[in-house]
Amino acid sequence: MRHSGAVPPSVPPPAPDASPASGVGRAEAWFAWPTRSAGWEQRQGSLDAHERRRLDALVEPTTARAYAVLHLLARDVLGQVVGCRPDQLVVDRTCARCGEQHGPPRLVGHPDLHVSLTRTTDLVAVAVSTDAPVGIDAERVAGTRFEGFDGVAMHPSERSPDLDDRARAVSWVRKEAALKALGTGFVVDPAALTTPLAGRTGLVLPDRSPVTVVDVPLGDSDHVAALALAAAYGRVDITTHEAPDA
Ligand SMILES: CC(C)(COP(=O)(O)OP(=O)(O)OC[C@H]1O[C@@H](n2cnc3c(N)ncnc32)[C@H](O)[C@@H]1OP(=O)(O)O)[C@@H](O)C(=O)NCCC(=O)NCCS
Repeated sequence: MRHSGAVPPSVPPPAPDASPASGVGRAEAWFAWPTRSAGWEQRQGSLDAHERRRLDALVEPTTARAYAVLHLLARDVLGQVVGCRPDQLVVDRTCARCGEQHGPPRLVGHPDLHVSLTRTTDLVAVAVSTDAPVGIDAERVAGTRFEGFDGVAMHPSERSPDLDDRARAVSWVRKEAALKALGTGFVVDPAALTTPLAGRTGLVLPDRSPVTVVDVPLGDSDHVAALALAAAYGRVDITTHEAPDA
């Protein structure tokens, strides 16, 4: 998989440019396919108590598998990056709004290592960057195919019957990646935002850092993914990896 700044033709105009963008922002992203991951049940011991509680609470088997595969992948990746065993990593998820453990993940002891996670039932991803806060999102293209999607997700100026499922999904992942990089998630109404333009810095939220979003090409036409860095870069280079099937 390679990085590309290509803009799907049917995605509407970007959020306004923020400040001058310069330099190259770098990030790495690891993808795994839970449907191909057979060995996760034997590896649950690497998860921390919070992750095991959340896993136990997920009754739908494909959702539980995706959760486990994502968090095991995150521990493998972060363990390699910082040089320690996956089960020794301490992850803090304090929510900035309420203090509960459901916010963006941070690796304790490594404040300059930015991390983001995403999961669907059949594709999960982990992104890391030491350059700037990072956000990643992946979605099933077919997941946008429901009555009312445009009202929930698309800015009024972008709603059009001419948009296809892929364009809607691309818009969604770019917004979600940007809002994850900013650490807010969907406390911000996605329909209040226009779609960030891939490869361009934009001011997604007026009172926050500018964000640079890029599409992440996948070897799979059923999903789309985007990655964002919360900084004004002239270019974002992503190195992508596919986790070996386990
Ligand atoms: C972040 C968010 C957009 C992700 O939504 P999603 O499409 O269901 O899930 P994804 O699989 O793409 O991403 C989930 C991951 O995002 C991360 N995440 C959670 N909150 C985050 C935030 N504010 N910023 C960045 N990342 C966040 C977590 O690592 C989470 O993984 P986990 O649940 O498996 O541990 C959504 O959970 C959200 O909007 N959260 C904020 C809501 C909030 O703050 N409410 C106020 C509570 S007091």
